[in-house]
Amino acid sequence: MKLKKVYAFIHSVLMLTACGSAQAPVQETAQESTVSEETGEELLSLADITEETEAPVIGDTFSDENFSAEKRGTVILRYTEDEAASDKGALRIFNRNNAWDGAQYNAEKFRGNELEAEGSFRSANPDVRISVQYTINDNTTYNTIASVNTKEDSYSKCSGKYFIPKNAENIILYVESDRLEDIYIDDISVKVCGDYTYYPEAVPTEFVNTSDYPSLKDEYKEYFRIGTATTPNLLDKEPYTELIKAQYNSMTMGNSFKPDSILDHNKTVRDVEKYMYSPAVKFDAVKKELDYARDNGLTVRGHTLLWHNQTPEWLFYKNYNIGGELADRETMLLRMENYIKNVMEWTEENYPGLVRAWDVVNEAADDGGGMRKSLWYQTVGEDYIEQAFKFARKYAPEDTKLFYNDYNSYQTRKQNDIITFLRPVVEAGNIDGMGMQSHINVDISISQYMAALQKYYDELGLEINVTELDVCRGKGDDWQQEQGEYYKEFMSEILKLRKNGVPITSVTLWGISDTDSWLSSTYPLIFNDDLSRKPAFDGMIEAVKNLE
Ligand code: XIL
Repeated sequence: MKLKKVYAFIHSVLMLTACGSAQAPVQETAQESTVSEETGEELLSLADITEETEAPVIGDTFSDENFSAEKRGTVILRYTEDEAASDKGALRIFNRNNAWDGAQYNAEKFRGNELEAEGSFRSANPDVRISVQYTINDNTTYNTIASVNTKEDSYSKCSGKYFIPKNAENIILYVESDRLEDIYIDDISVKVCGDYTYYPEAVPTEFVNTSDYPSLKDEYKEYFRIGTATTPNLLDKEPYTELIKAQYNSMTMGNSFKPDSILDHNKTVRDVEKYMYSPAVKFDAVKKELDYARDNGLTVRGHTLLWHNQTPEWLFYKNYNIGGELADRETMLLRMENYIKNVMEWTEENYPGLVRAWDVVNEAADDGGGMRKSLWYQTVGEDYIEQAFKFARKYAPEDTKLFYNDYNSYQTRKQNDIITFLRPVVEAGNIDGMGMQSHINVDISISQYMAALQKYYDELGLEINVTELDVCRGKGDDWQQEQGEYYKEFMSEILKLRKNGVPITSVTLWGISDTDSWLSSTYPLIFNDDLSRKPAFDGMIEAVKNLE
């Protein structure tokens, strides 16, 4: 008899503690059973029933050397008695080399449940976070559960709740911070909120059939392209590849065209003399997505050439030697020119005509005003944007559009800064478009946003792309509906501007389903995890159908 494995949910009655409040609940326990393929009958054996009955708790008071935190990254974890928030001890995390270096806990048993995490932290570093990492459908996401502004000489507490999806694997909770100073932690506690359900393994996502959905790219055909952001892993899954080609006619690689995936460190440092002014590049990481786009009739937005993030630091140093001196302006201008040249020439040679737009410079405006003091700014100087666009124009194929791209670029002060530094680029004729990232939420004023779009066009005459749209949900129970309305109104207003002559030429969503969003905990996209459509998707369709 052939057997296949399925998940069964067995109810067992147990006492549980939920986020501090005692409850007398029914516990659902998920485990594997077997089903006969002939009869469909469930063959549960007692041996299959898991022992796991109690809601998991993580609790570390660090009152002696026996703590359960494990090291994450290069750090050293040391019990200390000098610096406790309560009782006698605390944990010192030091030798940190990356933002994510810290202390971690395995949190597999929280799968499918809401948890509440809290802790006390002390650090000269002003921003400490409790974060969670997990993998769904081969896509690993990192989200913040709680964050706190820490002080150097006293402890600050924070807590937050987070729902771990039941299809998540490799679930890890950890403490991290952007800067690399030591972190002292004390009184870590993680509990389940509400009734506990035990999922011994990730419940595989059952994708719905998406073939009968109306098509965004078809509905919007007369107005502009509709795009999405991809990662190579997603393209291994047929439900995704089918949906992408049915819905979108533009694609942005979410990561694989960024400098950290193109620049070849090993090759460059093996022969520093040879690569001094032209760092070595490699394109293995981006080919799969470019092939998919070419083979399925999507055009590509190239993202991105110059950025302060996802750009390796070694690029900016004399002899590529981090820790030494920063390279001089002339060297960095040559590295910039050659990088742009190499990327553009390789792309055009191997995928002629596919990349229709490049985000030449990303996020150059500082949140506090003026230009961001990035390593590009520090090494080349404040004309680095002009220089980058000049080189981009020199090497870009004739009909490839050159964009500046930024977030919060609808906000008045940031917009004014951007207009100021782009004006000379416009005057030199080296830029074609303004990319509005648009990582927004349902409270952002749509009329303010649209006024900003109009202003970029009026003042600079630039074409507009919405390049990374996602709309974080609101807090109410009817958030799906509210978000759907927002998407609908947002797209209606975009269409109105388009009809009134503002040259909006594409709207790209930053990912496909909420699971694969970089902001997955805020459910900002238009498809659910199983690719079923959200009101947000329907809102986008209605906006174009109702257009007068
Ligand atoms: C994000 C990617 O989606 C993530 O996978 C990655 O970990 C971080 O970067 N602004 C940008 C994008 O211009 O490149 C960023 O993409 C999101 C913010």
